[in-house]
This record gives sequence, structure tokens and C-alpha cells, in this order.
Amino acid sequence: MAIIYHPNKKIFTLHTAHTTYQMQVDPLGYLLHLYYGDKTNSPMDYVLTYADRGFSGNPYAAGMDRTYSLDALPQEYPSIGTGDYRNIALNIKNEKGVESADLLFKSYEIRSGKYQLQGLPAVWADKEEAQTLEIVLADENAQVEVHLLYGVLEENDVITRSVQIKNTGTGQITIEKAAAACLDFVQGDFDVLRFYGKHAMERNLERTSLGHGTIAFGSRRGTSSHQYNPAVILAEKGTTETAGICYGMLFVYSGNFSCEAEKDQFNQTRLLLGLNEELFSYPLAKGETFTVPEVILSYSADGLSALSQQYHNCIRNHVCRSKYVHMQRPVLINSWEAAYFDFTGDTIVDLAKEAASLGIDMVVMDDGWFGKRNDDNSSLGDWQVNEKKLGGSLAELITRVHNQGVKFGIWIEPEMVNEDSDLYRAHPDWAIQIPGKKPVRSRNQLLLDFSRKEVRDCVFDQICAVLDQGKIDYVKWDMNRSMADVYAGNLSYDYVLGVYNFMERLCSRYPDLLLEGCSGGGGRFDAGMLYYSPQIWCSDNTDAINRTRIQYGTSFFYPVSVMGAHVSAVPNHQTGRVTSFHTRGVTAMAGTFGYELNPALLSDEEKQQIREQIKTYKKYETLINEGTYWRLSDPFMDEIAAWMTVSEEQNHALVSAVRLRVEANQAAVYVRLRGLKPDAVYLEEQSGRQYSGAALMHAGIPLPPFTREYEAYQFVFTELKEAGALYEKV
Ligand code: DGJ
Repeated sequence: MAIIYHPNKKIFTLHTAHTTYQMQVDPLGYLLHLYYGDKTNSPMDYVLTYADRGFSGNPYAAGMDRTYSLDALPQEYPSIGTGDYRNIALNIKNEKGVESADLLFKSYEIRSGKYQLQGLPAVWADKEEAQTLEIVLADENAQVEVHLLYGVLEENDVITRSVQIKNTGTGQITIEKAAAACLDFVQGDFDVLRFYGKHAMERNLERTSLGHGTIAFGSRRGTSSHQYNPAVILAEKGTTETAGICYGMLFVYSGNFSCEAEKDQFNQTRLLLGLNEELFSYPLAKGETFTVPEVILSYSADGLSALSQQYHNCIRNHVCRSKYVHMQRPVLINSWEAAYFDFTGDTIVDLAKEAASLGIDMVVMDDGWFGKRNDDNSSLGDWQVNEKKLGGSLAELITRVHNQGVKFGIWIEPEMVNEDSDLYRAHPDWAIQIPGKKPVRSRNQLLLDFSRKEVRDCVFDQICAVLDQGKIDYVKWDMNRSMADVYAGNLSYDYVLGVYNFMERLCSRYPDLLLEGCSGGGGRFDAGMLYYSPQIWCSDNTDAINRTRIQYGTSFFYPVSVMGAHVSAVPNHQTGRVTSFHTRGVTAMAGTFGYELNPALLSDEEKQQIREQIKTYKKYETLINEGTYWRLSDPFMDEIAAWMTVSEEQNHALVSAVRLRVEANQAAVYVRLRGLKPDAVYLEEQSGRQYSGAALMHAGIPLPPFTREYEAYQFVFTELKEAGALYEKV
């Protein structure tokens, strides 16, 4: 039983394979958080301490007991106005403008299977793989019920949390703040790990010591954003990749979010993740229910890599739904960096011909195939094929591509409209804007109001009319601006639900379509999107060296199987850097592999390298995407970027390394491997050398001396079932 209720002590215990989470309904009816950490069977209410704390209020129900204060006690879902002056999870306003919610335990239910959320992505599981706990808290005075949902995926070591807020009164209430989860720690000294960035340089790791006060970050851009990923790790000081305690929170949501980590006056820590309260004020009429998107929690006592692996497994097996998630994906070539807007149908067919001769499986026609779009100033919203530009219909082009023996994919950006478009001319009010105010432009485009059904329906019909023109194997769904002009407090949330509704319809109408998410690269790289698309274009930055950092940061929560990574031309279009084909290939093989260049401009030797790269990728694709991923270096600090994947049976491993810095007379660089069987003997494919697992993990292997900067290496290790003759035991 993953979920146990102890009636005498009123303790709820959630067990996963290696962790325990505990909470208790206390004598006053408040739901207190007791524990999250290593598995234990013991009741943890002994961790609660009570003292008369100056300036920490006491609930009236505590009588004259000045030692009881919600300002000091660890809570499960702290709310406004209870005498807890820390950051709170919930703020509700009534019709008179009073902000108050005092939540007391009402009831609970334990169910088999994992709860699902209407209209929102959420972790899914078979009935026997998960259990649900629903705890109902209520405030009779504010006339609100709060349903705390816990999903326990025992084998995966993850617990999900979501919240449903019900207006049980007669008037309207307004939700001013709603977190999905709160984690209170009565002790501990933590670092906060967050993933910040910008367009074309997403998910850089920043590790900051949590002192008194709050570390807060989030998105107010309408999407999860390039700037901060909706995820956080709280790690005890000194926690490394392979040792130490850390907690993760990952939001399964693609819009505005907020994360607050706070160390309070008593050195206790509170971590909150949920909807951003800015630009949010959600009205709830009598009888209505609001659902807060869910957070995936996980805990590791064995360092950051183990935590990441738990998230990777959860995303691959319980977030992504696409049939492609565990399948080999087509190696693709995309027209964007090959031609940008400057292409015709012949250009695409030429790419297909080159693709066929190189072993590439699919050509993707990126931006510029519709309306009169030859630059990024017009036509978004007019999803009619530009037959003049393509030299024929889309159906004909698809056939010409398929005739080369290559699949066909296409780019779309459904959420957008240009003012220079027939759609905008017909429906200017469909663009998000504040009445009486000119909207904020970005890339000269406006956002369509996807919270409105008629807007979604019109675009959906247009997109389906395109997709029905032939066998389209893949769609890249792009989104190239942030939201502004938020005209109402419900917009940001309802917009995201509108996008999900559109994607749900698209996925059910085209179940065989491979969908790749994108938002100017990785501006909407989150678990919400992965529910609909099994891969997301990781970044508009294809520079191999920058990519080692972007993919490193991304790997803390997301598996390589969801990261779009392509080999592009040099000098790189974003940085001007020149790296070898090999280095670009090694880096792109830590993702869903493809190309972003014009092969016609390559030498025969380079073309041959592409053929070899694809063979290598296909040989190891399953290992790369299904294996256990380990970070072997920190590319922000170290002179190399290194990572590896190990098969489940630990008998096969691919190790990759890229030199980031070189200097004359450089000291030898060693890579220490992880996740192998210490007593097993492994054969390294290229050198033919044999090593014990222990040797590889403790001493590591030296990289060969370099001959030029940015050299990259791949080493393949296979377990020798019977220790080979070459291996001399000492
Ligand atoms: C941004 C994407 O990330 C690029 O790959 C490309 O599709 C452009 N948009 C097209 O406008």
C-alpha cells in the first residue's frame, strides 16, 4: 500500500520505493507537513516543536496556548491570513475584497490509480501503478473547499500534487494566488538550483545558497519561458551529482509560474511552486471549481544524477503519451538554417534528394510556406499554402518528397497572427489586446486569443485543411513571442488551457503524427508540452559548444529523448564559431538527432561524415534514449563537457566528451564513468582495451591528447560476459 492513513494519530503516509512523505491533521484541524525523505515507517510527528514565539500569532482556536503558531509550524498548504507571515500557497478574495482563507481538515479519500485533471496535462499511470489521496480542507467562513490531490507512483519514486479549489458559497470568490505544492522543512541548510536563460541560451544552471528571505523566480510571459524553467531543486549544502540529499519540483504547465524558496526566522525552509500571482486574478462563481496544474515531486539521497534519472523515467513513461516516445525517431533535416525564408518547392525536393543519399529520414519544411510569407512580417493566421512559391500544391510537393524515399514534415505557429494577414483584417478583435490600447508587438506579430473557442476552431480548421493534403509525418509547433496586453485576470491560465485543448484535438485527430514542440527554440520546454509532443526543439542555438551547456541544464529534469538537437553549418549562425563535424555530431547525439544545414554546400568528405554519423546514431539511438543518463562534468566550470548513457542491464555504455578549453602544455584530462557494475569487465570498442567497472568509475580514462580545439570523443563500452584474455587481474 503506497498510501496509509493512521486514524489514531491522523497521519497520512505516502510511500514510494525509496521515499516517505508524511502529514498529520493536528488537534486544531490544520494539516501539518511532517516529513519527506528516506523511507521510514516511523510516525514523524515528533519533529514538531512548540514554543512561545514573539510576534507569531496564535489561532483563536488554540485558546490561551501561545506556543501554537502557524507562523512556525510546517504546513501542507498554507493560506493567507492565518498568522503565518511566510510566503503562502493560497490567497482567496471574497466579493467585499477581503483576502482570507483558513483551511481546516474535512475529509479524505484513498483511491487506486492516478487522478487526472480536466483540460490539463498530468502524469498518467495504469491503475495498478499508482494511488491517489484526496484530502479536503475547508473554510466555512470564506465558503471555499480546497481539495489537495496526491498521486503516488511507487516504483518511480515520484509524488504528484495538484489542487482543486471549489466555491461552496453563494457569491463570487477570486483566486489571487494558488500554488500547486508547498514543501516545508523544519530544518536543513539548502542551495536552490534554478535554470535561467534567454532566447538561444536556455536553462543555464545557477546554484545559490538560500539565506534568510526569499529566492523567487518565475514567468510572467504567458509561456513557461526561456528565462526560467518551471522547475527547481533544493539541495542540501554539499550535495553533488552522486551524493547528498536533494528535492525536485517540476511544474506540468506551460504558462506563467512562480517559484519561491524561503528561509524563515527559525531557519526553516519553505518551497512553493505554482501559478504566478501576477497578472492572475481568477473569478470563481458559485459552485465552480478551479484546478491548479500539478507539480511532480521527487527526492534523492544519492545526489543530483539519481534525482534527474527519476524525472527522466517519469517523463518518458508517465508524461509523454505519443506513440513515438519509445520508438526510434526519424533523423530529420530542417529547412530553417538551410534556407530560412528563401526556398521554393524545388529547394525542398533538393533537400529530400540529398537526404535520401545521406541516410536522413525526413525533410521538414519550416517557416515560409503559407500566405505571402517571405519574411517574418506577414501572413501568420493565413494557413493557406503558397502554391506559387512551392511551384504546385502541397499534395504535389509531399508526393515529390516521398518519391525520394523520404518522410515529410511541416512547421506551424497556430497561436499567432500578423496584422498583415487576412485573418487579422477579418477579426482584429481576435488578437489579445487591452481595449482602447494599442497592443505590444513582438517579431511584428500578435497573439491570438486562444482562450476563445471560436478563435481556436477557426485556426484548427485551417491547420487540419493543410494536414489533410497529404501524408504529413511530423509537425513542428512553434510559438515566437511572449504574451503582453493581459486584459483580464483569467486570460493567462485560460489561454494555456486553450492551447492544450487545441493540441489534444490535434493529437487525437492525427494519432500517427510526430509532434515537436518549439518556442523560438526552448521557450516552452516543459512537462506540460511533453504530454502532447514527445520532443521539443531545445534551443535556436545550434552552436555545439553552447549546446553542451544548454543540454546539460536541460538534463536535470528532462531526458535526452525529448531534446531536439541538430548538426548545423559552420561558422555557426548564432555564434560564428567553427567546430568540426564530429564535435557537432557528438553534441547533437545527446538529443533527437537531425540536421539544420544545406547539404548541397558540403564537400564529399563532409557528406560522408554525415552518413557515418547517422549510422553511429542509429546504432546507439536506443541506448541513448532509453538508457540511464549520467552527467560526468559541469560544462560551466570544467574544461570538458562529458556525459554518458548506460543500458538498464549495465552491460553497454556510450560515453561522450567535448573539450571546451585548451591551453599549451595542458595537463591530462580524465573522465570518470558512472553507473557501471564495479566487478564487471568492459571492452572499449575502438581501442580494444579492457577495464573493470570499478577502474572506469574510480580512476576514469584519460582523454587522448588533442590536436585542435573543441575536439570531441565517443567511447563505447560493452561488458564481456567472460573476462577477456587481455584482462590481466592483479
Ligand atoms: C523559431 C524556431 O525555433 C526556428 O527553428 C524556426 O522555426 C523559426 N522560429 C521560424 O520562424
